Amino acid sequence: MLNYTPIHAAMTALFGGGALHLLDCVDSTNHYAKHLARQGSPHGTVVLAEEQTMGRGRAGRHFSSPKGLGLYATFLLRPSLPPEELLHVTAMAAVAACRAVERTCGAAPRIKWTNDLILGGKKLGGVLTEFSSGALILGIGVNVHHQVENFPSDVAPIATSLFLETGCHFSRSTLACHLIHEIFQLSDGLLSQKEDYLRRYESLCLTVGQDIIIHYRGEAIPAHCTGLDGNGSLLVQYADGSVGIVCAGDVSVRTPGGYL
Ligand code: BTN
Repeated sequence: MLNYTPIHAAMTALFGGGALHLLDCVDSTNHYAKHLARQGSPHGTVVLAEEQTMGRGRAGRHFSSPKGLGLYATFLLRPSLPPEELLHVTAMAAVAACRAVERTCGAAPRIKWTNDLILGGKKLGGVLTEFSSGALILGIGVNVHHQVENFPSDVAPIATSLFLETGCHFSRSTLACHLIHEIFQLSDGLLSQKEDYLRRYESLCLTVGQDIIIHYRGEAIPAHCTGLDGNGSLLVQYADGSVGIVCAGDVSVRTPGGYL
């Protein structure tokens, strides 16, 4: 079970308290946080759930969230910047999530552009950033205790958990405390630390420097990723030598184990 006391203590130590919603079961912690945002919940509200029945990922995909096995967390932040100046926030959150995982278990995940956390060549979790009622809704999911049979059959071959990668069961409450620490550090430096985070993102990103396939309107376009721009978008070179920028959509990356 997630443990309210140390998690709330971490929030108090970092920013003098704040609202912590620890739920047994919810459709999606992002949905719940959006509802809280409409009601005017303050900056720094944290929503955690033991289980999500409709956990969501990017592009409307399902994020499997079985009871007690993962960390399903959403942070409600009220930055003073408009959404169009926060294009890099998903990248920053992915770096923050990697740091929190590393501090919890010593294993260092990498990132598949834009928002997938990768460990051992498989998906460990992800970040879903949304804007609603003037708030930034930052959702992060990490697979912690899952065994292979806990994943839906279509996801099982490409998914992993901290347990599957390390053989150890790490505390989700400890991971939540580290994540809270990292996210509040991030929220203090959304502009001032942007470059530091993007440099770190680039070094963690599996996609940079690799051959990729851009999936766009039913087409699969091969390209090479040469780097990132100042907002975390991909700089690419196409087979004919022309260059471009990819700021959204699906991109597969070539890894030693095949395309991911
Ligand atoms: C992705 O795989 O594209 C991102 C997954 C993000 C999952 C987290 S779990 C907590 C929060 N609530 C959701 O419904 N989604 C995010």
